[in-house]
Amino acid sequence: MSDATEPTLENLLHENRSFPPSAEFAAQANVDAGEYDRAAADRLGFWAEQARELLDWQTPFTTVLDDSAAPRYGWFPDGRLNAAHNAVDRHVAAGNGDRVAILWEGEDGESRRITYAELADDVARAANALTSLGVGTGDRVAIYLPMVPEAIVALLACARIGAPHSVVFGGFSADALHSRIIDAEAKAVITADGGYRRGSASPLKPAVDAALAKGGTAVEHVLVVQRTGGEVEWVEGRDVWWHDVVPQASTEHEPVWVDAEHPLFILYTSGTTGKPKGIFHTTGGYLTQTAYTHRAVFDLKPETDVYWCTADIGWITGHSYVVYGPLVNGATQVVYEGTPDTPHKGRWWEIVQKYGVTILYTAPTAIRTCMKWGEDIPAKFDLSSLRVLGSVGEPINPEAWMWYRRVIGGDTAPIVDTWWQTETGAIMISPLPGVTAAKPGSAQVPLPGIVAKVLDDAGQPVGPGQGGYLALTEPWPSMLRGIWGDEKRFAQTYWSRFPGTYFAGDGAKYDEDGDVWLLGRVDDVMNVSGHRLSTTEIESALVSHPWVAEAAVVGASDETTGQAVVAFVILRGGDEVTDLPEDGEAVVQTLRGHVGQAIGPIAKPRSILVVNELPKTRSGKIMRRLLRDVAENREVGDVTTLADSGVMSLIQQGLKKD
Ligand code: PRX
Repeated sequence: MSDATEPTLENLLHENRSFPPSAEFAAQANVDAGEYDRAAADRLGFWAEQARELLDWQTPFTTVLDDSAAPRYGWFPDGRLNAAHNAVDRHVAAGNGDRVAILWEGEDGESRRITYAELADDVARAANALTSLGVGTGDRVAIYLPMVPEAIVALLACARIGAPHSVVFGGFSADALHSRIIDAEAKAVITADGGYRRGSASPLKPAVDAALAKGGTAVEHVLVVQRTGGEVEWVEGRDVWWHDVVPQASTEHEPVWVDAEHPLFILYTSGTTGKPKGIFHTTGGYLTQTAYTHRAVFDLKPETDVYWCTADIGWITGHSYVVYGPLVNGATQVVYEGTPDTPHKGRWWEIVQKYGVTILYTAPTAIRTCMKWGEDIPAKFDLSSLRVLGSVGEPINPEAWMWYRRVIGGDTAPIVDTWWQTETGAIMISPLPGVTAAKPGSAQVPLPGIVAKVLDDAGQPVGPGQGGYLALTEPWPSMLRGIWGDEKRFAQTYWSRFPGTYFAGDGAKYDEDGDVWLLGRVDDVMNVSGHRLSTTEIESALVSHPWVAEAAVVGASDETTGQAVVAFVILRGGDEVTDLPEDGEAVVQTLRGHVGQAIGPIAKPRSILVVNELPKTRSGKIMRRLLRDVAENREVGDVTTLADSGVMSLIQQGLKKD
């Protein structure tokens, strides 16, 4: 296992605090301790029951799991349903049309309140508009939007006509958007003129224009939401304003009933190679598990709770726990457009107070940032409505966990530390708030109906107190069905390390009680502020700059963001490069900007160190472990496998000189 995980492993041997749910909480909880046994006794029967109870099926399924083409598993394969019908119309039909679905808060202070009945009309109109633009069932639609209500409407409109959406996070660059549009062969793009971030309008449409100008795409139309009113370039015949076609469209729309295994969406995520993977999910199993986990893990009471997940819809958390899980459950939720410090550092807590938020789901990096800002800021607001707190995206360190509980949760709200991935589609390992005695820093136990194990190098399960690799040894309903267009990579990446078992790419350890502690990635994937970035992808971006001969990227631990990107580059010498600035800082700034352009601002290295050599093994593999030692200011570890053991002292001497 990667030695990057060792310092964490040390820390957690000392954690013995435990926070059981209060008797009052346990008594009212949606799920009790018996659920684990019930699910284990008949795992497939348990999921079938959830699928029947939580969803409306136009054609009921008779088969639960189809494993005939494993690892391309199918769930509820002979059933038919529609995701948008389940997320919206169903609630209207059940008499809950007046319930608020979305409490939207714009960064600029604008707010909108959208009921399920209004959402149903909006989704039907948008579905009709997409159809009139030539988008059909099975066509892919790229979505590049800020956190505005139209983003949710857009996803659901695609789902309603059976057109898989591919959401690209608004922070990605035109180049990154282009490669995703090409890979999915998207037929249309839905975007906005811009969105509000940190107090000003930040444009989005120019990136779409630039991406499409690169050519080679199958995009016929760009549907543009007007959010900021900023100037936009316009391609006649291709570009269409949302407000010119959606509000006028009919609210009559028959959903397209699709097979449970019909693709619902593609979402690109970083892997160990430079090319992002288009993870795709299908309809029936995904909706079943997102809805079940949303209800069980957050103890959702749709009639009374006000739920808020702070994730952007550009990430899987936004798909599963802003769009599908909460809406299928008929929840009332807050959706916030902007950043937590705009116009002041108490903005989130002001929103909690304003809407009486009862369930908050966010990321450790945000909690650590708020810790840094000081507890006097949240103390100015009434947070007493909060009754469940969630964490996702990276291991939460026990100090942040304790702060979250004490300062935000009033020392009473249970914390659920939820482990899952883009690939798993929904939460897999987490405490249950009314059942589990929570331990700061541990995701603890696989959910009912989920089988997860920690395996050693040989694929054997390890015992209490031991560590290894996290693996999912049984299929689960919301599992990825593949990598779009690349079946071989799917089999290779996830199913070959331990044949027949899903390899998650995370290191994990059991404590003496058998609870699971996540220890970070064991591959070349970094986790910066809960966002997945690939070392190789950033290295490719760096070497695509004419000044750079070689690059190595590592994730160095960072107090706030979990990990930070640190790059080591060797510059080209000789006559090849004539425009290299003398000033080292200018070189670094240019290269940072270059990465920002190739991938997006989130991928910009925190620091770039110019070196003369990189540490390599005799077979030419860069030893990132040693570079991580340098990046984290540690004494450099074992160098005996280096081809040239003097390289590390050269690097360190070079850095000291700077
Ligand atoms: O390393 C794990 C970490 O995030 C990775 C998945 O990233 P992504 O696909 O972007 O999805 C993030 C949101 C679900 C995992 O392989 N991770 C996620 N949640 C946790 C976590 N690590 C520790 N504890 C968690 N609760």
